[in-house]
Amino acid sequence: MHYFGNNIKTHINNLEVSYTDNGPEEGSVIIFIHGFPLNKTMWDKQLDALKEDYRVISYDIRGHGDSEIGKDDFSIDIFVTDLLNLMAKLKIAKASLCGLSMGGYIALNAIENHPDRFDALVLSDTHCIADPPKVKQKRMDTIESIKAFGVEKYVNEIIVNLFAPESFTNQIKAISNVKDIILDTCELSLSRTLLALSLRKATCEKLPEITIPVLFIVGEEDKITPPEVSELMHEKIKDSDLHIISHAGHLSNLEKPDEFNEQLKLFFAKVYKKPIMYGTYSDNSNKSKLRSKLNMFLSI
Ligand code: MLT
Repeated sequence: MHYFGNNIKTHINNLEVSYTDNGPEEGSVIIFIHGFPLNKTMWDKQLDALKEDYRVISYDIRGHGDSEIGKDDFSIDIFVTDLLNLMAKLKIAKASLCGLSMGGYIALNAIENHPDRFDALVLSDTHCIADPPKVKQKRMDTIESIKAFGVEKYVNEIIVNLFAPESFTNQIKAISNVKDIILDTCELSLSRTLLALSLRKATCEKLPEITIPVLFIVGEEDKITPPEVSELMHEKIKDSDLHIISHAGHLSNLEKPDEFNEQLKLFFAKVYKKPIMYGTYSDNSNKSKLRSKLNMFLSI
């Protein structure tokens, strides 16, 4: 039996996991995977925008949001196993994935290892490289700093890298929500995830093997995973598009939700061959770009 709604609890891998599941039961499925150290609510505006046409699911990665942390160490592989078990539990044979940053690492790993389970992929503000030694060391220093000084200091340090400078004047609510989410994440989960991220393997070599449609979306001012990286990845995947969002940083879906959502709608309309209705997004220059894309899609 499936329960559609918000903050539903289920058990997978001996763990209670929280997820939100909206939209038509028979609809094509899109699963949203959050970044670190956030939770599934970062996707609320995307779920709202797409739930009329698709079955949209977001879930809390173990140790984040309302999902239990469990006994085991974290790794990208374990996160992928959780994702596949959640799909099995919800009887989802095939889905599209939309992952931001860490969510993108998980999505890439899942698609490269289980290509037959996925229809399409949105990679937002993410990359395929493993941590270089300097970044690994920084993650270890952060683990020590969280132990010594607590999460508040950590939040104040990372928040400046998550958003574009102008978001600090026009996205005050989104920023304060993100701060609260991080403050609510337990220290053990932060440390386990930092370690898992530092140990993850590169996935770049397998990019040319991806044959499903891929959309890259990235904030022009993303300091953590800059647009150049998405451009390089885009070049390696034949059936891929790239959209760069101006005046947005690393959390581009929160900073420019309307533009982000229009891109998702266009992309999934192409993937699942659906007609597209325009929303309220009003950047005219981009709208004409979107219109010409729409015409392309309609002529398929
Ligand atoms: C994220 O947003 O998920 C993180 O920036 C990922 C990372 O630290 O590599």
